[in-house]
Formats: sequence, structure tokens, C-alpha cells
Amino acid sequence: MSTSTRQYLSGFASHFSSEALPGALPIGQNSPQVCPYNLYAEQLSGTAFTVPRTHNQRSWLYRIRPSVCHKPFRKLEHPLLFSTFDKKSCVITPTQIRWSPFDLPESDAQIDFVQGLKTVCGAGDPSVKEGLAIHVYMANKNMTNTSFYNSDGDFLIVPQQGRLEIRTEFGYIDVDPNEICVIQRGIRFSVALPDGPSRGYVLEVFSGHFELPDLGPIGANGLANPRDFQTPVASYEEAQGEWSLISKFDGELFVAEMDHSPYNVVAWHGNYAPYKYNLAHFNAMNTVTFDHPDPSIFTVLTCKSAHAGVAIADFVIFPPRWACGEHTFRPPYFHRNCMSEFMGLITGEYEAKAGGFLPGGASLHSIMTPHGPDATTFDKASQAELKPVRVADGTQAFMFESTLYFRTTQWAINESEKVQEDYYMAWQGLKSQFNPNQK
Ligand SMILES: *[C@@H]1O[C@H](CO)[C@@H](O)[C@H](O)[C@H]1NC(C)=O
Ligand SMILES: *[C@@H]1O[C@H](CO)[C@@H](O)[C@H](O)[C@H]1NC(C)=O
Ligand SMILES: *[C@@H]1O[C@H](CO)[C@@H](O)[C@H](O)[C@H]1NC(C)=O
Ligand SMILES: [Fe+2]
Repeated sequence: MSTSTRQYLSGFASHFSSEALPGALPIGQNSPQVCPYNLYAEQLSGTAFTVPRTHNQRSWLYRIRPSVCHKPFRKLEHPLLFSTFDKKSCVITPTQIRWSPFDLPESDAQIDFVQGLKTVCGAGDPSVKEGLAIHVYMANKNMTNTSFYNSDGDFLIVPQQGRLEIRTEFGYIDVDPNEICVIQRGIRFSVALPDGPSRGYVLEVFSGHFELPDLGPIGANGLANPRDFQTPVASYEEAQGEWSLISKFDGELFVAEMDHSPYNVVAWHGNYAPYKYNLAHFNAMNTVTFDHPDPSIFTVLTCKSAHAGVAIADFVIFPPRWACGEHTFRPPYFHRNCMSEFMGLITGEYEAKAGGFLPGGASLHSIMTPHGPDATTFDKASQAELKPVRVADGTQAFMFESTLYFRTTQWAINESEKVQEDYYMAWQGLKSQFNPNQK
């Protein structure tokens, strides 16, 4: 099936139903004595059974064989994939960090999506369901007869180069750059790379799930609208063959052999299912008078902490839009934040920096680490004629923002050889322009 003809269900964490064979879903109950077509009924719980109804997430899968039909797990080494960010194995630094684009695999290397995951930074530990990890992936090979699931949390995947064709237990999702997808804890998937060499970013949260942000006075519409989220439709194969099932479990990888395809779900229903979202559908809000709101105005998805308004992770974008603030310094202001800010660039040129922040690269401004426009951007914006202008056309920058400290990996700081040692120079040109005699 090609990308253009792929079908999806529309809605955000709705109670979906999908069947690849008519009548495969039992009517009126979840687990009949015998299921239609002699399928096995299996529940996948994304939240504790007893979580309040508003946040309860689970799905029922009707499959040819239950997911338990595999051999025992054994350890699989993957030294660059981190989930525990202890002080010994990580680099602690408040310095502003910017990375040049991470290298795609050499063409003679065969690296699939899972093998190509490399951890940049993170916080906490999945064993206590606290924290998050930020990874990048650089891959050039389809996952063939290999299926992966993450026991540790949800993946929010941001492709930067190359489409992803993701086969999941719930069906297929095609994700283009400028789209994102979320694959929750426990869901099996395989990634194919129809465009060959591919690169992107992954935000992994060890607790909770991504939600749409509350809209407050914005009202019932705006930002990411629920109906623009797309969930796959049921699609199955009954196929014998050798399959490897990889589990990311408490930060380690394990592999188990299977003798059949794990993609044998004929029908499913429930509100725990993967989804994608096209960032071009984001309905941006901003000032029509002066100044500009905090970047939280561009939040696409949030993973809430137990404290009201404090996110474990917000996924924020800086989409193409109009800037029209009057008598206003329009770029992002200089600031220090009680949150950590990791930024990436999908395409184009980010408006707040005059260079050095490139697609496939990244930056990190940590808790209370000052940052803001570089000298060139400051001078330009201070003198700009303030007519309404388009900003960020052809550009998509994003931010993973978190209340947690991000500890960086040795790979990110050192072995990747992508840290721009001269990043601090961006601000050294901000000279005193103070004149006590001129108000
Ligand atoms: C990888 O998967 C894509 C999408 O299914 C397919 O078009 C391509 O031919 C595959 N590549 C290889 C080498 O099998
Ligand atoms: C890979 O899986 C398919 C079924 O999905 C099967 O037809 C094929 O034989 C498997 N390949 C190998 C090498 O076992
Ligand atoms: C970077 O790695 C090299 C070689 O592995 C090592 O000698 C050096 O100390 C490392 N530098 C830092 C800052 O960790
Ligand atoms: Fe910032």
C-alpha cells in the first residue's frame, strides 16, 4: 500500500474500533468464550486498571496467536542507548550546547532504526517510572523480521530526514518529516525506510502519556486539534518465519525468538493506540498587539507531571506564521528558565539564530542557563521595520522542554564529535550599548 492510499482513524485517544475482517470484533463484550474467527482476545493496558476514567487507556486486541508465543529473552548489547542518567556515566554541565547535524550511517554499514538509536541526554530512571530520555536515530536499513517494543515508556518520534513506514500491531503508519508519531509503551512495531538513509529525534517518557494541552481562555479550538491525529486501521498477516522480538526493558535491550509474525492482530478496539500528527495542521496562536507569549503557546503535546502546569515534557514547535507585534523585539527574548530546553530542527532556518543551528542538529539550554538571540539576530531585530512579516516559512524547529535536569551522554558530548565548541561566541558580540544620557 502506498503512503497516499493509507487509511487512518481520526481523533485523539478516542475509543476506536477497527477490524480487518468483518465481524472480527465481539459485540457487547470484550472476552467471549470463543471469539469470532477463533481469534485470541488480549488486553493491552496503558494505564493502571484503576486510573480515573478520564485518563484510563487500554485496548483489546483480537489476534491469531497471543503475544506470549515467543521464546525466552536474552540480553542484547546496545551501549549507546541509555535510560539511566546517573552522574558516573553522564556528563553534567550547565554550558549552552549546540550540536552540528548527527552523521548518517556509512553507506557500507547496515543500521536499522533500533540499532541507530543513540541517546543524547535525559533524566531519571525507568525502573521507578520517573524521567525521560532524548535520543536521535540515524539509520539506513529496514527492520526485517524484527519487531521492537518499549517496556519503559512512550516514544514520540520526530523524523527529520526520510519517511518512516511503521508497521505496528494496530496497523501501518507512514510518517513523513514534518509529521510526528507516538508509539506507546508495549506496542510492537517495525520501522522501514522507504527513502533509505534516515535521521530523526525521539523523546521517550518513562511515566504517563502525551496529552493535548489544556486550552484555558483560548477556548475549545486551536493549537493541535484532536481530529487531526491519525491512528492506524487493523492490518494483519498470518505468516510463519523467523522473527526477533526486541524489548527495551528497564533500560536494557533483550531479544526473544518467535516463529511467526507478531503482526497478527485481525481487529482491535480501545483508546490506547499509536498515532501520528502533521505539524502543518497546527493552529498557531500569538499576539495581535505587542510582545509575545511564552513558547508554551506552541505546545503540541504535553506529558504532565503530578504538579499542575509542570510538564515532564512538552513538545513545542515554532511553525511558519505571521509576526505582527507592534513596538516589540520580536525574536525570542533573552531568558533563563527553570526548565530544560532541548531543540531540534526538522527543516529550514530557525529565526532566532543567524547560523549554526542546522537540520539534524540540536541545542540544549539547561536549567537556569541563559540563552537568547545571538548578536547578529539582536541587531537585526532591533532595527527591523515592524510591518507584519512571515517568519519561519519553510522551517520547522521544535523543542522538548522539561522540568527535569538533562544529563548528557559521553557519546553526545564527546564521541559524536558534533559539539560546537565555539557556540558561546554567538553571544560575545552583545556589547554594552548603554547610554545614561539617552532615554
Ligand atoms: C524497505 O522498506 C520499504 C518500505 O516498505 C521498501 O520500499 C524498500 O524496498 C525496502 N528496502 C529493502 C532494501 O528491502
Ligand atoms: C520473515 O517473516 C516473514 C513473515 O512475516 C516470513 O515469510 C519469512 O520467511 C521470514 N524470513 C525469515 C528469514 O525467516
Ligand atoms: C573524549 O574521549 C576521549 C577518547 O575516548 C578521551 O580521551 C577524552 O578524555 C574524552 N573527553 C571528555 C571531555 O570526556
Ligand atoms: Fe529558551
